[in-house]
Amino acid sequence: MARRLSLARTQPRRRVAPAAAPAPWWRDAVVYQVYLRSFADSDGDGIGDLRGLRQRLPYLSWLGVDAVWINPHYPSGGADGGYDVVDYRAVDPEYGDVSDLEALVDDARRLGLRVVLDVVPNHTSDQHPWFQAALADPDSPEAARYHFAPASAEPPNNWQSLFGGPAWSRTPDGRWYLHLFAPEQPDLNWRDPVVAEDFERTLRFWLDRGVSGFRVDVAYGLYKDAGLRDNPGAYSPTLFGHGPEQAMTWNQPEVHGVWRRWRSICDEYPDTMLVGEVCLADLEQVALYSRPDELHQSLSFRLLKSPWAVAPFAEAISSALDAYGRVGAPVSWVLGNHDKERQVTRFGGGELGTARARAAALLTLALPGSAYLYAGDELGLPQAHVPDEAKQDPIFHRSGGARAGRDGCRVPMPWNPTEGVGFSPDGAAEPWLPIPADWSRYAVSVQTGQGGSTLTLHRRALALRKAHPAFASGSATVTTRGDVLTIRSVDGGEAVRCVVNMGSETVLAGCPGSVLLASTAAVRRSGGTVALPPDSAVWVLED
Ligand code: NOJ
Repeated sequence: MARRLSLARTQPRRRVAPAAAPAPWWRDAVVYQVYLRSFADSDGDGIGDLRGLRQRLPYLSWLGVDAVWINPHYPSGGADGGYDVVDYRAVDPEYGDVSDLEALVDDARRLGLRVVLDVVPNHTSDQHPWFQAALADPDSPEAARYHFAPASAEPPNNWQSLFGGPAWSRTPDGRWYLHLFAPEQPDLNWRDPVVAEDFERTLRFWLDRGVSGFRVDVAYGLYKDAGLRDNPGAYSPTLFGHGPEQAMTWNQPEVHGVWRRWRSICDEYPDTMLVGEVCLADLEQVALYSRPDELHQSLSFRLLKSPWAVAPFAEAISSALDAYGRVGAPVSWVLGNHDKERQVTRFGGGELGTARARAAALLTLALPGSAYLYAGDELGLPQAHVPDEAKQDPIFHRSGGARAGRDGCRVPMPWNPTEGVGFSPDGAAEPWLPIPADWSRYAVSVQTGQGGSTLTLHRRALALRKAHPAFASGSATVTTRGDVLTIRSVDGGEAVRCVVNMGSETVLAGCPGSVLLASTAAVRRSGGTVALPPDSAVWVLED
């Protein structure tokens, strides 16, 4: 008591402004996406696994990312790269077991990395015990957890599977069931409360094991039009996302209630987050999923589909900043992932595609918000040629080969220039997808320490992004002049710019300050201007 009094006398009373809470980690994080099957194989079966990933965590820490998102690790029917889950609260034995996942989380935490899992609530595997019970007995409680329709000559409506063909298939007893993806992925009926309860158990199961959150698959799905009415139009894979033509299958208002509930569960676990896959054409609608009481983030896929030109890139960036800004959410930028062609190939292939992909990486990492970096993109991997007979993607098979499918961006990571590129321990194992013969040249060990390598570029960019918070947390202005796109971001007293030349001629851009990083050594500074060759980008710190 006496001590407290004396303190009050000697220390003048001051009104102390409460310290501003630090921004949550996920607002400006760089999240590294690991396609588990293709990352690192520890036991020599040609399939990546949790122990392999664990062994490679020091690489991710060295690279400078903040978190790792792992594509589905659950026991699965194997029909869609793990997105057909048989047991949501287990680990596929191909990948390890729950203790391996716990060890991964612990090791990651020691290295300052967080682990984010993938959760798949729109559909299960057809091997899931619920669906099996529903097949066995149409009157079972499990049958009410899916969308079944009585046997009839025609399917109940005109809905199409995103993987091709009708979204309805028949059970052996002639009933129809709904699958918006492959037939092995029956859609759940979220109007049955047991479905919601079970997923809440799943979230807690993994959160209790220390994971930092979830990437939510098909977060714009889950609920379907209550009357299962026909869609007004057809789905097109070339669109930015689904719109009014698919109004009956996606983006039903009820789904937002699920995210509010999931958010409240995450709120019980400090520093966790939910990031949703929301493939809707209207960015205003996408942003609504990351309102303050819903998902923490929703992925913005515009850059993933934008052709290499100033207008689409500028539009993609401005419209996302505006739409997400209106709900107070950071934009979660995606340049590449396991569903799209690698950007080196998408932007033209070879040297041209590589130059553009490097410039695009600098652009993406200079944008305010969080960034999702797909494993292998930091190496500048091109889309791999996968022979048809080796392809596994249901998109290829269900379209009768008309659509190439996604195998080419899922080929295992090259780690070193030995036989098998260091993916499996002894190099002798046959990888689950064939690795192109010349991929040694992209290997991590080959690029490490090489000043001009794409890996070095990414590592420098990640370090500079941390050192200069204006990039990831500043307020950004987007301007265009001819083929030049400039993002200028300001945070406190600091102003930084990313200038990209997307044209075919060298341009002189006026930008006072010091060059922090350039996508090519051919970028030249002279006085207050920078000479940017075609397909290049530069980061400048203003004086
Ligand atoms: C989106 C995932 O990214 C994709 O790989 C998967 O095929 C579908 N959702 C279905 O789960």
